[in-house]
Amino acid sequence: MFRIKIPATSANLGPGFDCMGMALQLYNTITIEKNRPFRISLAGSYRDGIPADESNLVWRTMCHFWDLIHYPTPTLDLTFENCIPPARGLGSSSAAIVGGLVAANLIAGSPYTKLELLQVADALEGHPDNVTPALYGGVTLSVPTERGVLPRILVQSPNLKAVVTIPDTHLNTKRARGILPPEVHRKDAVFNISHASLLTEAFIREEYSLLREGMRDTLHQNQRASLIPGLLETLEAALQTGAYGAALSGSGPTLLALIPNSSESDVPQSMVTTLKNHGINAQSMVLEIDVNGASSSITG
Ligand code: HSE
Repeated sequence: MFRIKIPATSANLGPGFDCMGMALQLYNTITIEKNRPFRISLAGSYRDGIPADESNLVWRTMCHFWDLIHYPTPTLDLTFENCIPPARGLGSSSAAIVGGLVAANLIAGSPYTKLELLQVADALEGHPDNVTPALYGGVTLSVPTERGVLPRILVQSPNLKAVVTIPDTHLNTKRARGILPPEVHRKDAVFNISHASLLTEAFIREEYSLLREGMRDTLHQNQRASLIPGLLETLEAALQTGAYGAALSGSGPTLLALIPNSSESDVPQSMVTTLKNHGINAQSMVLEIDVNGASSSITG
């Protein structure tokens, strides 16, 4: 029996639209017993609504990988424990895809490297900003090149914590991408290039005072504010109560704030209260940054 643990991820980090992300210590796990009749069992706080049949995304991803490498589909007993809330901007679909690929690769005797798995994951997900940190851990940059995605780990273990404030509403990524205009103005492109560069410097030099400016964006957050009442006010509340920086997590509706590692913080409560004032119920979690990415272990 073996188990794969895949972290939640927060993409964009403000200006790094579709290319920057970080892995968080909140996990889905996949437990696999080989040579058993096919069965999918679901566990965890977010199992409701997840299919336990062949339409399951983890299982479909595993089958896709075996097709790709011409490996015969084995019969397995699978348990999926889902602790990452779905459709909230915390990388639940990337966790399913990365988990499925890592599992299927292991079962087939590991013919693919991590970099090769990343290319398959990117093709399935459509953008690499969640799948890269889900595979590698840390704070990552995904660079589109002629030979596929080039993953870079900006910092594996930053000296900060993440506050994720999760509204109890779902937001479909397709809808949140659909409202973005297909073209951007040059001044907005310049704004995001400069801010993503500043953000990179903040992480590499561990100069977290730069995050406040470095996490600002013009390409997607304001545009998505109409989908998430109180979005901009809640990010401002996080900054006012001591966050280094704050941004929409992925395509939302979760909001991310980065805070000092050491102290107690008023940031979680201020974010929840501000959303509540806009009619949105939310819960906040304070999470460490995951340093490993998807990992596997043999159990039992
Ligand atoms: N970069 C993507 C977006 C993340 O903002 O649409 C989706 O999870």
